[in-house]
Amino acid sequence: MFNQKSINQMKTTQKVITLLITAAFAVVFMLGNNALAQAKGKAWPVPDKDKNLKSPVKASDQNAIANGKDLWAKHCKSCHGSKGLGDGPKAATLKTNPGDFTTKDFHAFTDGELFFRTSIGRGDMPAYDKKIPEAKDRWDLVAYIRTFKK
Ligand code: HEC
Repeated sequence: MFNQKSINQMKTTQKVITLLITAAFAVVFMLGNNALAQAKGKAWPVPDKDKNLKSPVKASDQNAIANGKDLWAKHCKSCHGSKGLGDGPKAATLKTNPGDFTTKDFHAFTDGELFFRTSIGRGDMPAYDKKIPEAKDRWDLVAYIRTFKK
């Protein structure tokens, strides 16, 4: 009933169909992953004693802000972006959205909360207590982050 030629043709058709199905799955998978990349971080609780920590740095201290800016360019900008919008070159590869540091909601966090989260990290957000070991430097970063406020 089937000659060798039609059998070969059927095999080729089968291969093409398998390939198309695989490709379709790959596209769906990639889209799904992209959606995950946009996921917003869940609430990030900070213990009261850390939350209420007062920064030793005055908000108007220009030397502190300049130091914070240097540290930001070196350690943070790749994910959080130069203006804190969460649009650094690495941002798209992260599982969690790094967030927008210019919003009112963000600036409603206390200095202590920002210092704590910078220090201990979570998920894709690295911990900086060892990478930036001087607490003063991390407070300078917090002072710099405050300048992103709209
Ligand atoms: C590798 C990418 C990456 C780098 C580098 C990075 N962050 Fe993050 N950061 C994130 C991600 C992702 C989150 C969200 C984490 C979550 O919600 O689980 C985050 C969250 C934060 C938060 C908490 C924001 C909030 O809304 O609660 C602060 C503060 C922060 N980062 C500061 C910094 C500082 C300061 C630096 C540099 C010293 C830095 N980050 C470097 C990826 C990064």
